[in-house]
Amino acid sequence: MSYQPPAGTGEAKAAALVRSHRHLIPQRIETFDKLGVSFVIGRREGYRLWDLDGRELYDLHLNGGTFNLGHRNPDLVATLVEATERYDIGNHHFASEPRSLLAEALAAVSPAGALDKVVLCPSGGEAIDLAIRAARHATGRRRVVAYDCAFHGRSGLSGAAGDPKTASFFHSDSAEFVTVPYDDLDAVDAALASGDVAAMLCEVLPATAGFLMPSDGYHRGVRELCDRHGALLIADEVQTGLGRTGDVWAVDGFGVVPDVLVTGKGLSGGLYPMAAVLLGERASSWMAEDGWGYVSTFGGSELGAVVALAALERSVDPATLANVAVVSEAYGAGFADLAARYPLLAEVRRRGVVMALRFDDPWGGIIMARHLFANGVWAMFCGFDSSTLQWKPGLLVDAPFVDESLARLERALAAASDELASRAR
Ligand SMILES: Cc1ncc(COP(=O)(O)O)c(C=O)c1O
Repeated sequence: MSYQPPAGTGEAKAAALVRSHRHLIPQRIETFDKLGVSFVIGRREGYRLWDLDGRELYDLHLNGGTFNLGHRNPDLVATLVEATERYDIGNHHFASEPRSLLAEALAAVSPAGALDKVVLCPSGGEAIDLAIRAARHATGRRRVVAYDCAFHGRSGLSGAAGDPKTASFFHSDSAEFVTVPYDDLDAVDAALASGDVAAMLCEVLPATAGFLMPSDGYHRGVRELCDRHGALLIADEVQTGLGRTGDVWAVDGFGVVPDVLVTGKGLSGGLYPMAAVLLGERASSWMAEDGWGYVSTFGGSELGAVVALAALERSVDPATLANVAVVSEAYGAGFADLAARYPLLAEVRRRGVVMALRFDDPWGGIIMARHLFANGVWAMFCGFDSSTLQWKPGLLVDAPFVDESLARLERALAAASDELASRAR
């Protein structure tokens, strides 16, 4: 049967849905329709999006921080437009001025300044692939340990690591990829002791599971276990880096220096794809041996490097980090007030603007995403835990945005509480 957009969908939006269903993402379109969050983004500006039908929504998803600095941030747009006067993608074989400047800036802000080598990639998944390859080369070992609730991307090695269900969907699961539960040092110890482990791939605060928060000292414990067993520690900071936790990198706040750190999303400034792998001495040995060990036509495009440098500088600026702390506290107070009045809001996880809300219903994250959507907020339920919703404000949001988004959250909580109460009757 041919696809029908939801009743009442405007003409342009319906046409985009039909084309996307036919040629791009049929099952995803049907799923979002069923969940009541059919969305085709039209205009976008700052932390606001407009559905093609014209309805305004606050963006509390930000594609995991891709739009940390807002949609079409005017400074970054000007930087990109200006860069087109001089640059294009560039030639990936040669040294390049913009790439070298971006790499120097990333090395300078790397944890303890210890990750001095940089590889630029077109996506976070590809950057994770490269991090794993680097660890394998450095250790001469093959196996990779990751969290069973982690998402590291959908390219080759990244798609094989983490959550085993999705790895097996494309037959990417293999004995070389081992999983452990989050926040369980004994499990990490046992996995690393089992032999031939090149790396512990650590999604520092697992996003798709709802930004689980670790026990005190957990990440330092993982670092010590990696050292004891001779495995490298790779920090996946694709969602948690670039100021989102209030530190430049989440690992900085946990007092840990990894061997490899992967960043992406916000490094793009939301305008030009860019991800990066930052490598310490041991992990970067291959770079001195083989200058073509990693090559990618679009990895480190020069236009992207210019934008990424500007995005990086703004993201780690002390004024930006100070704003993250203020915004985080304001949301913390708002959530506490709402939790006292709406028992549906069962748990708040918060570190900087990395936040998740768990609801007292197994489908609470999905139900709340629908009610938030109806009340002018786009926020994503967690793929690995349907009771939970990610709440991801930008680095530069201001007090009126915080207040209005909390007011919309309250309206959604009231509607969802009514819906669940009437179902129970
Ligand atoms: C923690 C984490 N790692 C890696 C990736 C993969 O990044 P990309 O989608 O750019 O390949 C993602 C994407 O959502 C992510 O959330």
